[in-house]
This record gives sequence, C-alpha cells and structure tokens, in this order.
Amino acid sequence: MVKIAPSILSADFVRLENEINKVQKAGADILHLDVMDGHFVPNLTFGLPIIKSIKDHASIPIDVHLMVTNPENFLKELCEWKIDYVSFHQEVNSKEPKHIKLLKENGVKAGLAINPATPVESIFPLISLLDFVLIMSVNPGFGGQSFMPIVYEKIKTLKIFAAKINPSLEIEVDGGINDKTAPKLISIGADILVAGSYIFADDDYKTKIQLLRNSKSCSTI
Ligand code: DX5
Ligand code: ZN
Repeated sequence: MVKIAPSILSADFVRLENEINKVQKAGADILHLDVMDGHFVPNLTFGLPIIKSIKDHASIPIDVHLMVTNPENFLKELCEWKIDYVSFHQEVNSKEPKHIKLLKENGVKAGLAINPATPVESIFPLISLLDFVLIMSVNPGFGGQSFMPIVYEKIKTLKIFAAKINPSLEIEVDGGINDKTAPKLISIGADILVAGSYIFADDDYKTKIQLLRNSKSCSTI
C-alpha cells in the first residue's frame, strides 16, 4: 500500500500545530519536512529547532528532506531525536557512505534524493546501503510546481536495479503530485508519495489523501 506524506511546506505556518493534527487525523502516513538553506536551493524554510518541536508533537513518522549544501550540520541531532526518515541530495557530493552509515546505525532510515536532471544511475553504487531513494519530480526549492514526467522512466530503471540488490528499497516521489499524476506512480511501484499544494489547497485534507491513495483504481494506464 502506497504511503502518503503531506509536505508541510504548503501548510499554514501560523497554525502549524492545527495543520499537523489535521493531516494526521485525515490519514497521513508520514509527515514530510522540507529543509532549505537558501544555498543549495534559492529558498529558505526552517531548521533544527522546528524539526524538534514537530517530532515531539507528531504521532506519525517524520521524513526530513534536506535540501542543503551541508547535510552534516544536521545529522547528529536528527539521529539523536530518532527522526524516522532522513534524505540528503546526491548533488551536494557530500560524504554519502559515511552519512548513510551514521543514520542507519542510529535507527534512522537513510535516503538519497536526486534532482530531475540527475541520472538515476549515478546512485547505483550506493543502492545496497540505502533504505530509500527520493526522486524529485520538480526542481527542488518551491511547492506548487508542475510534475515532470521524465521521472517515470527513472523510477522504472531504479525498480529493476533495486530488485536485484536491495529489494526492500523504498522509492519516494516528491513534487507536483496530485490525483492526475499519482495513478501512474503507484502503478509503477512508488512506495511514498509526497504532496504539498494538492493536499493543503483546500480544507478537506481527508478527501485529498484518500484520492491520492486510491488513485490506482481510477488509472487508465
Ligand atoms: C520541493 C519540495 C516538495 C514540495 C512539494 O522542493 O521538496 O516537498 O513541498 O510540493 P508540491 O506537492 O506542491 O509540489
Ligand atoms: Zn520535499
């Protein structure tokens, strides 16, 4: 069953506690937190203190997506707080195996994120170490952008490769996901769908989450 991860980037930050309570009640599986440093991406969101407050409050798993140049500045605390999923970007050319090892030793699911322009083959050498891969279906930095269909091929390629060497690898897709783009993603085996603007656009989060989750049955693909 696909997991739905609302991105709080599109939530009302003044009412963040209510927003989190509301998506949890609406059936969200995971809470997706977008950390942007104004350097790796041209936007700035929030950092460690807010992540800690959310982790203390939330009753569902937390997924921290680090869109930052220096993921090492975050990992120690994220491990200490037992954050459930943490991903950082392949494009920062950080010390990936070391970071992945640190996360896993602390019981945190370790993920690598890749931008739309980054070939999925570039992370093949690390697939056996990873718990999940986050495939960006928009250029990172902002919510509300249009889904880039090039990711379908990347997901299929990754699925075939992972089946051989790491069958439990989860594939998370992030950006431009709605009831039109979700069905094909589910049918080709995406495990986690992140959605921000689609879920938070109007008040009925429950219907939106259900539409995403059950969209396979409406698929014509
Ligand atoms: C974009 C973020 C996404 C974003 C998705 O850089 O990583 O998580 O919040 O937002 P939507 O669903 O609006 O594309
Ligand atoms: Zn994200």
